[in-house]
Amino acid sequence: MNRRTFIQLTAASAAASTLLLRESAVAGSVYAAEMDLATPSLSETNEGEKYWESIREEFPIVHDQLYLNNGTMGPSPREVTERVTKRIQHVDSTGDYGGDHEAIKRAIAGVINAESADRIAYTHNVSEAISIVSSGIDMRVGDEVILTDQEHAGNAIPWLARKKRDGIEVKFVTLVPNDDELMQRFSDAITPRTRAISVPHLTCTTGQLLPIKRLSALAREKGVWLLADGAHPPGMLRTDVQELGVHAYASCGHKWLCGPKGVGFLYIAPDFQDHVIPTWAGGEVDKHWDYQGNLDFLDTASRYDFATQNFALYDGLLGAIQFMQKIGFEKIEKRIQHLTTMLRTGLQSISNGRFHFLTPATSVTGITTLKLDNKLSCQDFANELMGKHKVRTRVVHESGLNANRLSNHIYTSEADIQAFLDAVKDVLG
Ligand SMILES: Cc1ncc(COP(=O)(O)O)c(C=O)c1O
Repeated sequence: MNRRTFIQLTAASAAASTLLLRESAVAGSVYAAEMDLATPSLSETNEGEKYWESIREEFPIVHDQLYLNNGTMGPSPREVTERVTKRIQHVDSTGDYGGDHEAIKRAIAGVINAESADRIAYTHNVSEAISIVSSGIDMRVGDEVILTDQEHAGNAIPWLARKKRDGIEVKFVTLVPNDDELMQRFSDAITPRTRAISVPHLTCTTGQLLPIKRLSALAREKGVWLLADGAHPPGMLRTDVQELGVHAYASCGHKWLCGPKGVGFLYIAPDFQDHVIPTWAGGEVDKHWDYQGNLDFLDTASRYDFATQNFALYDGLLGAIQFMQKIGFEKIEKRIQHLTTMLRTGLQSISNGRFHFLTPATSVTGITTLKLDNKLSCQDFANELMGKHKVRTRVVHESGLNANRLSNHIYTSEADIQAFLDAVKDVLG
């Protein structure tokens, strides 16, 4: 199927996907909505590798480069970038700078199965979403927050900043690839001074999936807030914030949802919102303010996003979600897992004791991290992959791991995986 056929199919399924979007607003999760929908859509026109090649053609990624770093930045399909550009031009030519934010938040809510659009606040990135919570909850000198020993700076620094400001304690639990043992470690770390647990849903270091549902249950039992750093799962793995039971979930549009860059969001559970005081505020966060000094915040999570927003970027995120819905979120998840399994099996077969996986075998996502066991440094390995074979990967220096991370998405092909394996063989000799 070529680009034109894809576009025709896209047009043919536009009605279905609009319905899909409406369904998702009613039914909640986009996954449930897809399963309920009988109307044929792109998701039912899988033509194997040819089909995925046509999806690849929707992305502008240059053909002489193999991009295996979606975990840092998810390239947008052309139609998303065109939509953003058009919208910016529309704003500048008409002065009409607003738009239907409700529809955008409804779509985001559908991706993570939030109760409604009211539970979603816009942010610019994951770090801002985490900062809204870390700076907004009641914590005094000596109160504690528990993190892991494998954080992205985006989940560590907001809490360390609060430590600087208010003298809170930041504790780090050492991760182990065993959920029962991990639960025990968190349980042991909780004290009467613990106010919050803030942990990645999927670590950016090794791609370990954390048992968020169990951690939320533990947190709720102990009267502690649970914030998940969800930078990675939305757009890659089924994400259901209600099932996970989190108090808050921080994520972004610029990784696995392939949306515009600098667009994020925060989910705030209904029972948590009144405990998170907006630290930054401005126009449109209120029901009422006056010159007697009164201020009533909105009852929705929109109390955390304020003033003039770049509507075009958030509208671009809606476009990215619609693009993925046309393919089908479940199909995307399966495709990513298929490629990851192929990648890991291939790597295993050529390892010959020269590297091992840091990613737990049970965490089958779009992220795979390996640790070299020979004398080549992770940086030299990444440089040679890029220099000799034009393969873009990411080095993991966090937590002193000095490892190499590979992340594949829907624009990756089976041929790309094979090309990568050949490149590894060449570089490792
Ligand atoms: C797990 C995790 N948390 C937080 C972040 C920070 O994301 P942002 O730059 O959107 O704040 C990242 C970025 O890679 C990440 O991988």
